[in-house]
Amino acid sequence: MENPAVETQAPMNPKSDASTDANADVVPTFDPNNFNPVPLPEGLPTYDLPKVSIAKLLSGDKEEAKTVFHICSKTGFFYLNLMDHPLGRKLWENACKARNVGQHLMSTIPLEDKKAFLMRPEKGVLDRGFSSSSSANEGIARAVESLNIPRDELFAKTTPGWELPAWLRPYEALFKEIQTDAHAVEQIILGILEKELEVEPGTFARTHQLDAPTYSFLRILRYPPILGGADEMRERPRVFAHRDVVSIAMLFTWVGGLQIPKDDAVMLDSVTPTEDSWLWVRPEPGYMIVNLGDSMPVFTNGVLKSGLHRVVTAHENQAQLDRVSVLFTGRPNWEVPMAPLVSPKIPATRESSQTVESCKEWGDNVIKAYYLDNVQKGRIRISA
Ligand SMILES: [Fe+2]
Repeated sequence: MENPAVETQAPMNPKSDASTDANADVVPTFDPNNFNPVPLPEGLPTYDLPKVSIAKLLSGDKEEAKTVFHICSKTGFFYLNLMDHPLGRKLWENACKARNVGQHLMSTIPLEDKKAFLMRPEKGVLDRGFSSSSSANEGIARAVESLNIPRDELFAKTTPGWELPAWLRPYEALFKEIQTDAHAVEQIILGILEKELEVEPGTFARTHQLDAPTYSFLRILRYPPILGGADEMRERPRVFAHRDVVSIAMLFTWVGGLQIPKDDAVMLDSVTPTEDSWLWVRPEPGYMIVNLGDSMPVFTNGVLKSGLHRVVTAHENQAQLDRVSVLFTGRPNWEVPMAPLVSPKIPATRESSQTVESCKEWGDNVIKAYYLDNVQKGRIRISA
């Protein structure tokens, strides 16, 4: 796809201070000076998310752990500062590289080749393949396209002999390193929540394994600028309000677009705040944005919250840019029963006779329902 904005941000730089050698010969090198995002326009209403330190979490800081638990029982959204620990710095630098790789590939690889990286046949399951969704007013711009790097094939080896398409294969080591490190951070956060919840130690480590089938993924998303068309096209959300069907999501983003509802939002229904309730989340270099997904309220009978959010078109001086983000998600193992955990901090389920779905069944059903709802409302049309 033609995109005049591609060259205007984040050029690849020959110098590197990257701390990893994964695919060093083929991966664009990292220079933090190339990642000064064009600032979010002044005057936009923003949600100042709380900032948490990865170094403090790793050192067992009790106050920081309580802060995380408190956030996750309210909004489920926070910034995690990655720059105060080597693991965090490596993850940030690799996410920057993945961002460059994704932007380069999605703007240069022919559409037919991208489409040959097939999504799963299951409707709405989007952990693998190239996806391109269009707004209802297709013809002006694609709303979002994404490269989905599956964890199942790369780690759990669920499809023997499967490999990434040739144009992605050179970056496989980078993708695996990000997934390994992001999973380690996921485990730190889930471990803290587990302790605060007083559930059996090791529960989340057992139920969220790196090498078990989960439909977890690494996704590079590209929201091309809308350079023409009607204002309503720009005002239409690129991704409508939703909660993630995961345990935890970690977003690396450089351009505005993510929005979450303010604390006192007026809700028209469970996923629809009034338009003036939405606040922008400011991208912060060196930080990733963490949110909990839908499985955590299930495991905790509502004690922990899944964060509602949407993505809109960037404004003003950011509107000319490709918005490229890197997203990691962690989901429970397929066979995990989706029911509240046993703990004095978690209210017991009243209806014990209720059928308990496995995570795979639960995820398939929730995603299918979300997909069908959006198709029915004319919000999405999958063109791939
Ligand atoms: Fe999301």
